[in-house]
Amino acid sequence: MSEFPIYRPRRMRANENLRRLVRETRLSVDDLIYPMFVVHGENTATNISSMPGCYQYSVDRLVEAARELASLKIPGTILFGIPENKDEFGTEAYSDDGIIQQAVRAIKDAVPELLVITDVCLCEYTDHGHCGIVEKGEVLNDPTLDLLVKESLSHVRAGADMIAPSDMMDGRIGVIRDALDDEGYDAIPIMAYSAKYASAFYGPFREAAESAPQFGDRRTYQMDPPNSEEALREVALDIDEGADIVMVKPALSYLDVIHQVKLEFQMPVAAYNVSGEYAMIKAAAQKGWIDEERVAVEVLTSIKRAGADIILTYFAKSVAEWLDN
Ligand code: PBG
Repeated sequence: MSEFPIYRPRRMRANENLRRLVRETRLSVDDLIYPMFVVHGENTATNISSMPGCYQYSVDRLVEAARELASLKIPGTILFGIPENKDEFGTEAYSDDGIIQQAVRAIKDAVPELLVITDVCLCEYTDHGHCGIVEKGEVLNDPTLDLLVKESLSHVRAGADMIAPSDMMDGRIGVIRDALDDEGYDAIPIMAYSAKYASAFYGPFREAAESAPQFGDRRTYQMDPPNSEEALREVALDIDEGADIVMVKPALSYLDVIHQVKLEFQMPVAAYNVSGEYAMIKAAAQKGWIDEERVAVEVLTSIKRAGADIILTYFAKSVAEWLDN
């Protein structure tokens, strides 16, 4: 490469048209999945205080929100349910008329073109708030797998287009894939939360999904934030077990992990721009300290530049509007 003064990088930055021509990464609505929360009841959209602009929707209002996503050309939504009752085994998670099952049927009925993905996990449905069966204060791996299989099948029977296991139990992608195939759902893809870290950035989500653990934390099953080689091993396992999309979560503090996963595996990579990442931008913008649109677009573009093909983000609707202007 030639050096200054022959090469002057500023030449190609001189105006927006030149910058457009050499821009390497483009954020698009095509990349985005919008997460939504659904509760029992009718005609309610309850504001989530730590996530301004996000709501706990009753099924009827969720369908309206789904219509809006389709009209904004957002490809899909991922759904999180808040059950009527929580119990030791998270029974509503795999009940035919559970909140997610109702929500999926309603959206697929009214807005069939919108991709409906369901988060498969037990923490919203268990009274202890952990992602698996608890015995003597411990989260048990293998017995939990059966429940995750039941939950996955129940979501798919309700019409889910894709499932996204987020529990971080070992071996769950394999058993879920087998069960789906056995029941004739071999065409349903799995987006695996493969490298999901035990992160403090999930705080606002736990308010939204009412899923905070009632004792201890999730560090015995979610990943330790300092590790990245382990993330590659987790991703490799999930791909071996049949994952179609592998996810890194959270996104912003794990851009290096996203990058390594993209380089190492020739697979679609998703990144979850989580609730705390959203809340930080919203809060600072409300105080007038940062420009929400510019910061959000910069963050999401960096996630894509790092290697994510798909971004799950609470900014999806705003991005659709910003990019349209
Ligand atoms: C369920 C789940 C969580 C998130 C997605 N699925 C919370 C958790 O693991 O505690 C977090 C999403 C967000 O913070 O936006 N296990």
